[in-house]
Amino acid sequence: MNILDDEKDKLLDHEYDGIRELDNHMPVWWLWLFYFTIAFGVGYVFYYEVFEWGPDQHEEYELEMAAAAEKYKSDEEPAAAASFEWAYSDDAAIIDKGKEIFMGMSNLCFTCHGNAGEGLVGPNLTDDYWLHGCSAEELAKSITEGFPDKGMVAYGSGAPMSNEDVNAVISYIGSLQGTNPPNPKAIDEARAVQCSAN
Ligand code: HEC
Repeated sequence: MNILDDEKDKLLDHEYDGIRELDNHMPVWWLWLFYFTIAFGVGYVFYYEVFEWGPDQHEEYELEMAAAAEKYKSDEEPAAAASFEWAYSDDAAIIDKGKEIFMGMSNLCFTCHGNAGEGLVGPNLTDDYWLHGCSAEELAKSITEGFPDKGMVAYGSGAPMSNEDVNAVISYIGSLQGTNPPNPKAIDEARAVQCSAN
């Protein structure tokens, strides 16, 4: 075996299957990294476990849930939505407002119901076939409660709107009735309720 001069002193006296080891020092950068992880670990334990300055994972969860509840809290009480007078409006300004919401990134209606309401993942909103009814009240219920098990969460995307805004969207949908947009989603059996919105 060829051994360089300065390696003689470092050679450990054990040998396994003809393999011998040098007693080399760990690289300095590696050692510092190692010391750093130890110091970090000690700091971590004191910060989170001993002095409890930082929130643990349960507290962090509670904080995030509280923040989300605050962020998505509806200004309207559900009771107020129930007593709101839902109605199709043919006021052009209200219908425009509804279209803006339908096409907006906050509620994403168009992504599932198509740019012209022709239906995509969600049903066609322009024809006479409905799954959940076509009265203004029934549409309000469909929109404010959604169908989470079918992929539509409340308000389309979970971002609540005022009753006025919901009513504007309803009015916009009403204005789409009988527009026969291209590429309509096929009428499926389940859409049993035949009626005309507005
Ligand atoms: C992630 C996809 C998705 C988004 C976003 C979405 N919907 Fe829906 N929507 C659906 C699906 C799927 C259904 C069918 C539910 C069922 O099968 O019972 C539906 C049903 C409906 C219905 C009832 C239709 C009927 O035939 O009775 C209305 C009204 C409606 N959506 C309006 C809206 C409006 C308004 C928005 C935006 C605020 C919106 N949707 C956003 C997927 C979506």
